[in-house]
Amino acid sequence: MSIRLGDTAPDFQAETSQGPIQFHQWLNNSWAILFSHPADFTPVCTTELGTVARLKPEFDKRGVKVIALSVDPVASHLEWIKDINETQNTTVNYPIIADPVFEVSKLYGFVHPNASDKFTVRSVAIIGPDKKIKLLITYPASTGRNFNEILRVIDSLQLTANYSVATPANWEHGDDVVVIPAIKTEDIPAKFPKGFKEIKPYLRITPQPNI
Ligand code: BEZ
Repeated sequence: MSIRLGDTAPDFQAETSQGPIQFHQWLNNSWAILFSHPADFTPVCTTELGTVARLKPEFDKRGVKVIALSVDPVASHLEWIKDINETQNTTVNYPIIADPVFEVSKLYGFVHPNASDKFTVRSVAIIGPDKKIKLLITYPASTGRNFNEILRVIDSLQLTANYSVATPANWEHGDDVVVIPAIKTEDIPAKFPKGFKEIKPYLRITPQPNI
């Protein structure tokens, strides 16, 4: 049974490249991403972990903790981190969970046996400060993830958690947003003083309210 959106992120104890953690304690009411990758010492994963290390200031700016996972042991992670730092010109600055018996991977549905029963797939979970799962995406082993897209979704989630808006297709921070259907059109001016445009009664556009 794997997790779904709105579920509480399962708690677990694990060894990581930065020492043991109890996951809920580590989360500590913060936003977080947990991302799995197939295996240490593999080319696409090496670029992914380097990319996330370079993007860490962007996650920090948004108050998002970062943690990776693969089914290799800590000793392997520590050796591989040296390669990542060397080849990707970065410093891996977040923990990597060691999950050699698939305990965490199974809790989160990161093993897809018909794709591979030996490795985790390339999944990302975004977890909110309420410890609920806000997003799950799974990529094939052959396709490295776009972590700018993960940051874009975090921007959307953090905005829509605080305002009665949703973000349209391909939205980026700073673009106009849509007012959610639960808000009556006559109530929009009081809630959205920057103005709005009614394209259809169900499609009302307003400038991003928090900038
Ligand atoms: C990789 O990370 O490069 C990779 C891992 C498993 C299968 C294919 C590629």
